[in-house]
Amino acid sequence: MGYADGLFDLTDRVVLITGGSRGLGREMAFAVARCGADVVIASRNMDNCVSTAREIEAQTGRSAMPYQVHVGRWDQLDGLVEATYGRFGKVDTLINNAGMSPLYDKLSDVTEKLFDAVINLNLKGPFRLSALIGERMVAAGRGSIINVSSTGSLRPNGGIIPYAAAKAGLNAMTEGLAQAFGPAVRVNTLMAGPFLTDVSKAWNLGEGGTNFGHLSLKRAGDPPEIVGAALFLASDASSFTTGSILRADGGIP
Ligand SMILES: NC(=O)c1ccc[n+]([C@@H]2O[C@H](COP(=O)([O-])OP(=O)(O)OC[C@H]3O[C@@H](n4cnc5c(N)ncnc54)[C@H](OP(=O)(O)O)[C@@H]3O)[C@@H](O)[C@H]2O)c1
Repeated sequence: MGYADGLFDLTDRVVLITGGSRGLGREMAFAVARCGADVVIASRNMDNCVSTAREIEAQTGRSAMPYQVHVGRWDQLDGLVEATYGRFGKVDTLINNAGMSPLYDKLSDVTEKLFDAVINLNLKGPFRLSALIGERMVAAGRGSIINVSSTGSLRPNGGIIPYAAAKAGLNAMTEGLAQAFGPAVRVNTLMAGPFLTDVSKAWNLGEGGTNFGHLSLKRAGDPPEIVGAALFLASDASSFTTGSILRADGGIP
């Protein structure tokens, strides 16, 4: 095993990833399994969770448990935690990745129901899962929690206000959780910029549409480009990093 392999090794760790069935979550799920971890793939669409879990098992030889859950529904999260501990007996890394940013034409179109749904998924769900799992991690003496946020929380615009506010809350929550669960458990924000996932299909990427010229790297990210940052925060490579924000965003001004 090379020096860097050892630093990022996750052999026999257990990683729970919400939204692990598609997009950035799927990339992170494959990556941690390739580094030796067993994974829990949790999202609403069970078929997608099952197919991703089967692919991971086939490609990596690690165990992957699919689980159907709506992360925005507080009362469904105890079941996810119980099922995970029932199957694997522990969680070493929790990746609060599931999120969504609905589009709207004007601010008065944002209903209370939509606003609540955005807060529930991007902020409340991660809080509840971190509370349930973080306390068990403290009892076990170790753990890492990764909250997937957005550069929209630092540079909001008029089209993403509820989402930007929820993710800004997530950034704040990360620091608080790092205080609450330290020193045994580290909690960090992985802040994504624009990535070409299903989310970006709603963007106008054609000529004259959305471009990324304002970013230092002048382009959007490919989903595998989230992996290096995720492995750093998930593994012992980041043993002295907690309460931090790590940006993988192509360089926002
Ligand atoms: N892509 C970007 O440009 C970008 C930029 C900044 C931040 N982010 C953040 O990165 C994270 C991942 O984004 P992505 O681009 O990979 O999104 P994505 O391709 O749309 O995938 C979202 C994942 O979350 C799951 N999910 C959605 N709603 C859920 C719910 N209510 N309960 C449980 N699971 C749910 C989806 O599965 P189901 O549909 O089966 O539930 C899917 O697995 C999000 O937190 C997002 O805010 C993305």
